[in-house]
Amino acid sequence: MSTIALDFVRSLYENADAAHAFDHVLRVTRLAVHLAKAEGADVEIVRVAALLHDVADSRRDHHLASARMARDLLDDAPATFVDAVVHCIEAHRFSQPPEPATLEAQCLNDADKLDAIGAVGVARAFAFAGARGSRLWAYPLPELDQRIGLDREAYRRAHGGSQDYTPSHELLCKLAGLADSMYTATARQLARERHAFMMAFFRRLDEEAQGLR
Ligand code: ADP
Ligand code: NI
Repeated sequence: MSTIALDFVRSLYENADAAHAFDHVLRVTRLAVHLAKAEGADVEIVRVAALLHDVADSRRDHHLASARMARDLLDDAPATFVDAVVHCIEAHRFSQPPEPATLEAQCLNDADKLDAIGAVGVARAFAFAGARGSRLWAYPLPELDQRIGLDREAYRRAHGGSQDYTPSHELLCKLAGLADSMYTATARQLARERHAFMMAFFRRLDEEAQGLR
């Protein structure tokens, strides 16, 4: 299905939340195709994988469920194409295995991470917090850093679902590390400015929230 129709794909995402809505899929697709062209990856594999990467409703294992759905949706495409797309989708979660083993999968993984940082990343973190009813801000970053401790993944697993987990928590547990985890040189370059903007936003938020500005 190198011929997947955009309106059909849009209809598959009707139930998604603000952070994962079709807008996210379109942004990730645009970024992933840009990375694919710059890095010399197969653009069609990357494009179709990006369009279908979050298609399953379930959040927890959505990479595996989305990969299964993609295999069904692509049933009349050549097997090598389908396998390549399926691997990209299975390996798109930056917090979970498997690691992306192909250049195409690395492009999608990097594009999804780029959409989690910068101004859009900040907006998504607050949209997520708003949907949960979480507080906007709780502690300045240095204090939060102490509270979270060294095992950021474990802290996020334990507290990510609570209303006391704010976007600043998400910054320290996950978002601040994404720029350094890019696979492709093109994404690493794009991540630099997004990362700097995001960090500056959260530092400013600390100042305003404490009445220092
Ligand atoms: P993935 O689909 O790669 O597993 P997630 O669903 O964990 O990613 O996160 C998707 C987006 O939602 C990211 O931008 C992330 O920062 C944001 N997000 C996830 N959990 C939280 C949370 N508890 N608080 C704020 N933002 C969150
Ligand atoms: Ni995802």
